[in-house]
Amino acid sequence: MAGIKLIKHLPGAPGMRWFGLGPGLKPTRSMNKLKTLLDKHAFWAKGRSYKKLRLLLAGSNVVVSLWRGKRMVGFGRATTDGICRAVLWDIVVAGDLQGLGLGRQVVEALLTSKSIRSVEHIYLMTTNEKDFYLQLGFTANQNQTLLEKINLHKSTF
Ligand SMILES: CC(C)(COP(=O)(O)OP(=O)(O)OC[C@H]1O[C@@H](n2cnc3c(N)ncnc32)[C@H](O)[C@@H]1OP(=O)(O)O)[C@@H](O)C(=O)NCCC(=O)NCCS
Repeated sequence: MAGIKLIKHLPGAPGMRWFGLGPGLKPTRSMNKLKTLLDKHAFWAKGRSYKKLRLLLAGSNVVVSLWRGKRMVGFGRATTDGICRAVLWDIVVAGDLQGLGLGRQVVEALLTSKSIRSVEHIYLMTTNEKDFYLQLGFTANQNQTLLEKINLHKSTF
């Protein structure tokens, strides 16, 4: 889509975390913009504190963001061991720009990144958007079960 810029951040997105850098490596208060995007358009990530967001970026091997001018309009990240397994997380496009091919752009940028493109298995969890991922080449895994353990000693920040 015209006027949209995709940024492939360094692993851990240090420029965004430390200096709020955005397009053109300019200070753009990008942490505030990431928080706004997730709070508004990603129900599972609503209300995450800045400290949490900084830590999750620091722990992400691949981070991409989409910008329209100074507005962050898309985001996605992934964690991986670089060889056997990778997991995509927090894929989101701003509501008013959904359905225009931006989500596909985010997912393709993650999948083609250097540390993921040769990984054997790439996973993701989705509540409502299974069909979006099916037409991007993912399949529903019938042989495995997603198990979860809620950590009662989770961090309070
Ligand atoms: C899911 C989401 C990231 C998709 O992004 P998007 O920009 O709207 O999707 P795109 O326009 O890139 O769609 C790419 C293709 O997927 C299709 N598609 C998009 N959403 C779809 C859906 N829910 N079901 C089926 N197909 C879908 C589009 O028709 C398009 O197909 P085409 O290439 O043949 O035209 C976006 O809608 C979103 O942020 N939703 C809210 C947050 C969310 O639930 N994220 C998923 C977390 S796992």
